[in-house]
Amino acid sequence: MEPLTPDISEQKGPMDPFRSDSPLAPPPIRRLKLDDPEAAKEATEPLTPAAGSGPQQSGFVTAKRSVGAPQFSIRRMEIDGVSVHYGAKEAVKGVSLPVRQGEVLSLIGPSGCGKTTLLRSLNRLTELTSTATLTGRILLDDVDITEIEPTLLRRRVTMVFQQPNPFPMSVFDNIAYVLREQGSRRARKKSLEPKVHSALDRAGLFEEVKDNLDHPALKLSGGQQQRLCIARALAAEPEVLLLDEPCSALDPKSTQVIEDLIVKLRDDVAVVIVTHNLQQAYRIADHVAFMYLGDLVEYNSATALFGSPREQRTQEYVSGAFG
Ligand SMILES: Nc1ncnc2c1ncn2[C@@H]1O[C@H](COP(=O)(O)OP(=O)(O)OP(=O)(O)O)[C@@H](O)[C@H]1O
Ligand SMILES: [Mg+2]
Repeated sequence: MEPLTPDISEQKGPMDPFRSDSPLAPPPIRRLKLDDPEAAKEATEPLTPAAGSGPQQSGFVTAKRSVGAPQFSIRRMEIDGVSVHYGAKEAVKGVSLPVRQGEVLSLIGPSGCGKTTLLRSLNRLTELTSTATLTGRILLDDVDITEIEPTLLRRRVTMVFQQPNPFPMSVFDNIAYVLREQGSRRARKKSLEPKVHSALDRAGLFEEVKDNLDHPALKLSGGQQQRLCIARALAAEPEVLLLDEPCSALDPKSTQVIEDLIVKLRDDVAVVIVTHNLQQAYRIADHVAFMYLGDLVEYNSATALFGSPREQRTQEYVSGAFG
C-alpha cells in the first residue's frame, strides 16, 4: 500500500506522478485474455429480457438503444466484495461486479450512493483520500491492483472526471503531452500531428478546433474541454476507461458525440460510465449496476434492468419514483 496523501488527484498538474498522464508513468502494457473460457461463456449469455417484458412495463420511459448486442466480451476487471469507508462511514458496501471489454457498464443510482467512490477505487484514486479505507479485492487481468504500480495502473485504467480538467496549455499540447511521455520526449510537433488529430477526431472535437490548435485549452467551452479530456484519455490508449458523468456539462449535440464514441470504443476499451441520465444508460450500456446507499441492488443487462427489474428498489428508481 502507498502512504495515504490528501485528495489531490483532480487538482494537481501534469507533472504529478500519481496521474496516469504523468511523464513518470511507465508505458502501458496491453494484455488481452482471449482464451478465457469463462469470458467466452459469458459472451454467449442472452442480454435481452424475457418476451413480454419491456421498458414500458417497468414504468421507464423508452429511449432508443444505440447499441446492438456485444460481439464479444472479455472479463478485464473483477470487483470482488469491495467496501470503502470514509472514516466510520461506509460509502460502498461489499460490491462485486465484472468489468468487461466489448461491453459498456453503466453505474446508476441516486446522489451519494457510492458511484464515484467505486469508480475511483478501480484505479486506486480512493487511496489519495486520507480517510478512505478499502477492503475486498479488485483485479485487472487477474492481478490484484494493489500489486500494480499506481502510475502504471492509472495509465491502463484512465479516468475522465465530471469537471473537465484540461492542462493549462494549448489544445495541441494537451494531447501531445501524453504522446510525448509515451514515446519520444523530443518528438517534433509535425510527427505528432496525425495522432493528435486522430485523438481529437475520435472525441468529436477536431472539426471545431482544427483551425487553431494553438488555442489555449482553458478558453474552450465546457463541452469542448470535456471532449478534449476524453481525447487526451484516449491518446494514452487505456485498457479501461472510467467516465464519471462525462456528459453532465454538455449540450445535447456534444452528448450525442460522446455517446457515439463510447459505443464505438467498447470493443477496444472496457468502458465504465457513471450517469444520472437513465435514458443515456439505456441508450449506450450493455450492463447496468444500480447502487443505493452503498449497496449494489441489482446488476443486469440494460434491457432487463430497465425493462423488467428484479428488485423493487430498482423498479422504483427507473420509474422515477425517487432520485
Ligand atoms: N472524500 C470524502 N470524504 C468523506 N466522505 C465522502 C468523500 N467522498 C464521498 N464521500 C461520501 O461517500 C458517499 C458516497 O459518495 P460518492 O461521491 O461516491 O457518491 P455518488 O454516488 O458518486 O454521488 P453523486 O451522484 O452525487 O456524484 C457520500 O455519502 C459522500 O458524502
Ligand atoms: Mg459522483
